Amino acid sequence: MTKYFTEEGSVEAVNARMRGEVEPRLKEIMACLVKHLHEFAKETELTQEEWDIGIEFLTKTGQICSEERQEYILLSDVLGFSMLVDAINNRRPAGATENTVFGPFHVADAPIREMGECISLDGKGELCLYEGRVVDLHGEPIKGACVDAWSDNAEGFYDVQQPDIQPKWNNRGRFITGADGVYKFVGIKPVSYPIPDDGPVGKMLGQIGRHPYRPAHMHFMVTAPNFQTIVTHTFVGDDEYINDDTVFGVKETLVAPFEHIKDETEWRCPFDFVMVEKKD
Ligand code: BEZ
Ligand code: FE
Repeated sequence: MTKYFTEEGSVEAVNARMRGEVEPRLKEIMACLVKHLHEFAKETELTQEEWDIGIEFLTKTGQICSEERQEYILLSDVLGFSMLVDAINNRRPAGATENTVFGPFHVADAPIREMGECISLDGKGELCLYEGRVVDLHGEPIKGACVDAWSDNAEGFYDVQQPDIQPKWNNRGRFITGADGVYKFVGIKPVSYPIPDDGPVGKMLGQIGRHPYRPAHMHFMVTAPNFQTIVTHTFVGDDEYINDDTVFGVKETLVAPFEHIKDETEWRCPFDFVMVEKKD
């Protein structure tokens, strides 16, 4: 049966075209997407000129993407969508370490280092001792957990953003826990930095009166056999952007103590990772 397109019946007209044999989950997602997209145009009474600007924005967002740059992930991040999808997919019991946004600067297979080693290779910044335990929900230590850490340097750039300036693997390393679950390494006290803002997403932020900054944080990915992977950060609580992260990554439980100690390092950040067992 042909269904002609009308303003009122637009959603049904489009969704009725999907054939019965479409994979059910794909059908559900596409139908819902069409519904909300049409509702958006109806609610805002979108003009042709505005939609042309939208198409141009999406085109430029695609055109700036490369192996090194993923502008659509940035778009998802600044719209809070990355954090929403992460929250939906990582609901954890109280007491477990919460996830936050992954970000584009993780590099797989960072060097595995000895406990206590320093990951800051450029000699810049204030050193900080990161230490704690990887435990399960009962507080039992997890042996063989991998704590993969990465941060920007003291000037607010990741090594991959400055391959000709920073040493390879600057401020990155992996640490494997022993039977006591303890991890310990020296890095720098990170600094706040802007997400890449020289493309269409940065321009959009400017147009809607938003800055591109993230509060200072150390990234972690903690993995262990039979446990759910934790992708998270520890945040510096007194950072000027702590309540205004441009990608909405801050959670109360992830604001960590950065204690001024002036020992072998200037700072100390104690933080335990509490992992949840995988469901079968
Ligand atoms: C980051 O923390 O590395 C990051 C997260 C989202 C967008 C850009 C950078
Ligand atoms: Fe970061």
